[in-house]
Amino acid sequence: MTWDRKELKDTVAKVLGEDTTLVIAANREPYVHVIKEGKIECDRPTGGVATALDPVMQACGGLWVAHGRGSGDRKVVDKNDCIKVPPDNPSYTLKRIWLNKEEEKGYYFGFSNSSLWPLCHLTYTRPSFNENDWNYYKLVNQRFADVILKEIKGRKAVVWIHDFHLTLLAQMIKKRRPDVLCIHSWHIPWPNSEVFRICPKQREIIEALLCNDLLGFHIRYHCENFFDNVDKVLEARIDREKYSVIYNGHETFIRAFPISADFRAVSEISDTEEVEKAVQKIINEFSLEKVDYVLFGLDRLDYTKGIPERLLALDRFLEKYPEYRKRVVFIQIGELSRIQIQEYKNLNDMINALMSDINWKYSVEDWSPVILLRRHVPLKQILAFFRLARACIVSPLHDGMNLVSKEFISSRIDEDGVLILSKFTGAARELSEAIFVNPYDIDDFADKIKQALELPKVERTRRMKTLRGVVKENNIYKWAGKVISEIKKIQK
Ligand code: G6P
Repeated sequence: MTWDRKELKDTVAKVLGEDTTLVIAANREPYVHVIKEGKIECDRPTGGVATALDPVMQACGGLWVAHGRGSGDRKVVDKNDCIKVPPDNPSYTLKRIWLNKEEEKGYYFGFSNSSLWPLCHLTYTRPSFNENDWNYYKLVNQRFADVILKEIKGRKAVVWIHDFHLTLLAQMIKKRRPDVLCIHSWHIPWPNSEVFRICPKQREIIEALLCNDLLGFHIRYHCENFFDNVDKVLEARIDREKYSVIYNGHETFIRAFPISADFRAVSEISDTEEVEKAVQKIINEFSLEKVDYVLFGLDRLDYTKGIPERLLALDRFLEKYPEYRKRVVFIQIGELSRIQIQEYKNLNDMINALMSDINWKYSVEDWSPVILLRRHVPLKQILAFFRLARACIVSPLHDGMNLVSKEFISSRIDEDGVLILSKFTGAARELSEAIFVNPYDIDDFADKIKQALELPKVERTRRMKTLRGVVKENNIYKWAGKVISEIKKIQK
């Protein structure tokens, strides 16, 4: 059976019962209102997690609590700071939490993205820790807890928490409502204890995470790292049979649930006339009719994504295989992200420098090998880029899952196209028909680009068919359904 929206809806109703409210707590909101030229527009943020959870909430209904940071966000909410979304088919409630600049700086740019993010991703970017950030992090976690507790007052609820921004939430909620079931889905890697132990707040974080009833990672390896960490830090009982931890008389079940994309929806949108037209528009805009192959990358501009490595590999590829010059164009869409943090500014400068060096080195007549688009690109245009690409390059230095790879596969209704995928993504465990790269090994990476371009049609189709089968079967509804169904099992 392939999971779909209805199956998930029925499962959630069966497991939770009609009288239980499902609350999602995630830093990022699924819809953001921005003021453009005096008008309010509703945008979708980049970032895989918000995109993946939206269809789940559309199927289940409930409440999503998030930080509202769009310029038009305050203008469209009701007096309770809520708005029904999606705008064209309102099916759940988004409740926005407001943060002032200091709070955002300490909680989001500080402890979340300058401490925990580099700590958990092994990219040799040094994490920094300071007490002020931690205090704001605690304060904002408490704000989320207070808002959620108010919303679920007198009601049965399951709170499903997401990611590294809200590690303290379950503890804060359970303190006042021990009856509320808490699930935490961790979407980034959990490093080994040798790495995590440099975090001055490791004990507080692990203790708080162990207030959840269920704690999910994307792969088993990260569950194992978490167990090791608990073992080193706390006097807790680890039950390897049941795959759980008992601490302070409370049991937390640890599980691996690999997150996925909405395969069917992406396939269907990819099959529309609008996407066909967008393909043609892109060909015209970038004069792509003159080249044989398009290589494509889509990422937030983040140092974990291996974008400089990708450019270096392209450089090496063009150097080593000059016969491909003038025949290939690499298009990278990269939306600016977390730009208030120095490392992100440096990355941006580095990408600019690399791109201009490569283009200067190889450009002839009207051909340049690299095109970088920093603008926000709407979904249909992204699908058009996916469909145009001979190969999509997904080369993170470290990634919990990586949903771009699964969205690319979902878009390829023509069963063509090649996925070049980093070995260091969670997705690499499932997508075995990709061409794998170690992004640090530039020479080999260059050869893999060549291999991808030279793969015969029949082999491309065989691989893509298999990959599509995997993502179709293990789609986002199955992921959410498995997480929710696990509640029933652990309650027994
Ligand atoms: C990662 C995190 C998400 C986050 C996304 C985008 O995928 O796991 O929680 O939303 O990056 O990052 P941003 O900081 O823009 O929300």
